[in-house]
Amino acid sequence: MNTSPVRVTVTGAAGNISYALLFRIAAGEMLGPDVPVELRLLEIEQAVAAAEGTAMELDDAAFPLLRGIDVTADADAAFDGTSIAILVGAMPRREGMDRADLLEANGRIFGPQGRAIAANAAPDVRVLVVGNPANTNALIARAAAPDVPADRFTAMMRLDHNRALARLAERTGAGVDRIERLHVWGNHSDSQVPDVDHALVDGRPLREVVADDAWLDGPFREAVATRGAAIIKARGASSAASAASAAVDHVRDWVLGTRPGDWTTAALPSTGAYGIPEGLVAGVPVTSDGGAWHVVEGLSRSALVQERIDATVAELTSEREAVDTLGLLR
Ligand code: NAD
Ligand code: LMR
Repeated sequence: MNTSPVRVTVTGAAGNISYALLFRIAAGEMLGPDVPVELRLLEIEQAVAAAEGTAMELDDAAFPLLRGIDVTADADAAFDGTSIAILVGAMPRREGMDRADLLEANGRIFGPQGRAIAANAAPDVRVLVVGNPANTNALIARAAAPDVPADRFTAMMRLDHNRALARLAERTGAGVDRIERLHVWGNHSDSQVPDVDHALVDGRPLREVVADDAWLDGPFREAVATRGAAIIKARGASSAASAASAAVDHVRDWVLGTRPGDWTTAALPSTGAYGIPEGLVAGVPVTSDGGAWHVVEGLSRSALVQERIDATVAELTSEREAVDTLGLLR
């Protein structure tokens, strides 16, 4: 048994996603059943008392793996010695809001947090940005931490991936674990591109099993891409437990590795693969060897998929330009 605890920092600790996420981490579902964790919770001053309430509940759950919890409004203290930083703290979109509405308000959070990570975190730090607009917030945090290897900054596209998996499982009647080699390109927005062209169900091409290209290329793609808005409409609040679950999946696969023969989706700073401009944080097919993500290279794209990838990449490019104009990349 590994006895030295891994320090995990979660921002926005008093919020809805964290209320689901923290208990899953403390239960050992993210880093494994033998790995003790130490939690550092970051909140804004006004919400520190509420985060302390969540910490009291974590204590009361008596998780055997939980070796300590600190709550703070000081980013330097929150990221001190941390190996896993999950940046959730940001305003969620409400009904009728566009993700672009969040760009300026939330973008301002991520430069200072990137700097605090660079100054204080452990050398092996891995960062997952959940707060929206997640891809561009990860770009901002990474720009503020030039001495941290770029591939340690990622944004969450796993919820989109899981949503696609769930729709396909419903449609085919196969369990989610029987569907492989699916991924979602681009931005965590309605321009995202779920790609089923290489997907398999029990080893058979998914397109053959579904036998309905019109559904796959139309209603399926739209249902996945607009699911966030549909949840907001139905709940009156943005997705929380499913987002927390996707964050657990992302970090678990990053640290412990993906299933042999399969791949998943993560948004990584581009190194130019698939023609995505360098530095943009875009959803791509990835495997993990239990330490680092590797882009699955060389997958063919149909003309339709490539046209949609171009559109989602153009959106990421315009978000980068917008935050650059706001001075958030300096
Ligand atoms: P929430 O409003 O319930 O909680 C957000 C928390 O962040 C609040 O407690 C707030 O005080 C805190 N916060 C704000 N600024 C902060 C800062 N500078 N430092 C630390 N904490 C700060 O929101 P939520 O439902 O938990 O959602 C959080 C974010 O996650 C939103 O931006 C939402 O849109 C996003 N989200 C992303 C995905 C995804 O797939 N990437 C999915 C769902 C939600
Ligand atoms: C989601 O996908 O559920 C979140 O990112 C919320 C949103 O604004 O769509």
